[in-house]
Amino acid sequence: MQSTPKKIAVTGAAGQICYSLLFRLANGDLYGKSQPIELRLLDLPQAQDAVRGVVMELEDCAFPLLHNIVMTDDPRQAFEGVDAAFLVGSRPRSKGMERRDLLAANAEIFKVQGRAINEVAGRRAKILVVGNPANTNASILIANAPDFNPRQVSSMIRLDHNRALTQLARKAACGVGDIDKLVVWGNHSPTMFADWTYATAAGRPLSETIADDHWYKEVLIPEIARRGTAIIEARGASSAASAANAAIDQMRDWMHGTDGRWTSMAVISQGQYGIPEGLVCGVPVMCEDDDYSVVEGLDLDGFQKSKLDKTIEELVGERDALS
Ligand code: NAD
Ligand code: LMR
Repeated sequence: MQSTPKKIAVTGAAGQICYSLLFRLANGDLYGKSQPIELRLLDLPQAQDAVRGVVMELEDCAFPLLHNIVMTDDPRQAFEGVDAAFLVGSRPRSKGMERRDLLAANAEIFKVQGRAINEVAGRRAKILVVGNPANTNASILIANAPDFNPRQVSSMIRLDHNRALTQLARKAACGVGDIDKLVVWGNHSPTMFADWTYATAAGRPLSETIADDHWYKEVLIPEIARRGTAIIEARGASSAASAANAAIDQMRDWMHGTDGRWTSMAVISQGQYGIPEGLVCGVPVMCEDDDYSVVEGLDLDGFQKSKLDKTIEELVGERDALS
């Protein structure tokens, strides 16, 4: 007998990322090939026609695991009793809009969705914020969901982690799967810090295998930080399929564990590494038993501290711009 469908809410359902994400979810890429799912698709009233088109395409795939699809513009209906939610929908920057205006417009969206999650989401639901500015949106959501465990909310830094894995594997001539203990710290923005200090490939320190500090500091770190912008410049739109892939990677590891390996997640700070409490910041984690734990007690040298301080400063600035 098949088990009860897992309910997955996805916001921004008519958008670019969801045009990849929804089909991956329906194919069983998150919960596996024997777990049926229900998709709850949330988007704005004016996007409902486009969502209907995506629903028709999902139907036309005849996914055996996709038991039900709900289309709605009501966050409470979308999040009612969900097991997982991908918060992808957010307001893009428009002409003449200052970053502060963008922060404020998105803060409003994540206030409303935080309140709805607080009231109706399953208490063990995992909420992954993808829509930018992702870290600050997640902080706003947490602040507006006082009865919801903040550890059940994270924002996406996995795309940056995956980007760095590929560049490091190429440089070290190893497989991406050989690499462990890479960390991407901070904000999902150009201040993020892809840190190879602890990274190994097949047990050997990557910094020794690659032995090129100039490449690390002057090529890898800035390229990862600016990769999103480079993709926008090249394709005229922000990353979509790779973002959807990273969202599934982050959620899947969070649910099913990392088998003793490290990954990067942006989670609420409890003051580790001098990151102010309440900020949602990229840190090294390990996942086990449907939960994450932050890798604690790492010694940070002066270079690491200065990079981490810079990205923390930006997160504090985003928080303060909204208060
Ligand atoms: P898109 O513009 O194609 O789609 C966004 C969708 O969100 C639209 O359908 C829009 O109607 C919807 N939306 C807007 N406000 C909403 C609301 N209040 N409730 C529900 N839906 C709403 O954008 P996209 O390419 O899919 O990207 C989505 C977001 O993800 C953007 O903010 C983008 O910058 C961000 N992003 C984040 C990462 C990351 O690593 N964290 C990576 C890539 C993109
Ligand atoms: C990305 O990293 O690809 C995106 O967050 C870029 C963006 O600004 O949408």
